[in-house]
Amino acid sequence: MTAQIIDGNQLSKQLRTEVATRAQALKAKGITPGLAVVLVGDNPASQVYVRNKVKACEDSGLHSVLEKYEATMTEADLLARVEALNNDPAIHGILVQLPLPAHIDAQKVIEAISPAKDVDGFHIASAGALMTGMPGFWPCTPYGCMKMLESIGYDLRGKHAVVIGRSNIVGKPMALMLLQKNATVTICHSATPDLKAMTLQADVIVAAVGKRNVLTADMVKPGAVVLDVGMNRNDEGKLCGDVDFEGVKEVASHITPVPGGVGPMTITMLLVNTLEAAERASS
Ligand code: GUN
Repeated sequence: MTAQIIDGNQLSKQLRTEVATRAQALKAKGITPGLAVVLVGDNPASQVYVRNKVKACEDSGLHSVLEKYEATMTEADLLARVEALNNDPAIHGILVQLPLPAHIDAQKVIEAISPAKDVDGFHIASAGALMTGMPGFWPCTPYGCMKMLESIGYDLRGKHAVVIGRSNIVGKPMALMLLQKNATVTICHSATPDLKAMTLQADVIVAAVGKRNVLTADMVKPGAVVLDVGMNRNDEGKLCGDVDFEGVKEVASHITPVPGGVGPMTITMLLVNTLEAAERASS
């Protein structure tokens, strides 16, 4: 069996069209959804990410501002900028690109963002809301993964989902989202003694480690759904995920590619969260 590809570009296109339509409806009421993206320093990967985020906003009719600061910016100055954006009525979502320079306490900066504008879903209030099933913003990458499962009509009730990775940004929120949809969830990580024994039991596997070939064909139950959150480079310098795509696609029923899988969905869900923030602010 060759797996069906879950195309993140195609699904993103569909969802971004919906965002554009909803943004138009808000504009008719005199509100343009606005995202502020704050970049400190000149990390090359971050520069590409923020450019893509700002462009995606423009393409969907959202207002965006990109604030770029020198790597020497003080923590106090950054906190003051965040506070100003919290109080700016034209801004509905605030994203401070990570990583921040070492002299700045990233968690302190995230906690300074108003939870009502925390479209990254990184604030502890957002994490708490997800954990308790209260309204709040969900982190974009795992939220995008949930949309991908929804797009294939996958019912998680009673299924066993295995999440590989326990980061605050992907692994942990991913597990909570899957749990909310009534999956039985296992979180695996670097101290899991027998990863293969776990993944072989899984109906759904989410690989979010940041290491190539974490998941190979021999570790996958035939017919499982495999979502690849990894963003790595192979020996030829080509972008690849955490999953051995060529091998696993012969065993899985559905699989996300890298590139063109979860990646575009992360930005799409940022747009969705920003739109949602504007809709909540206007109602
Ligand atoms: N750095 C890498 N990914 C992300 C993200 O999704 N949000 C922020 N703020 N920084 C990141």
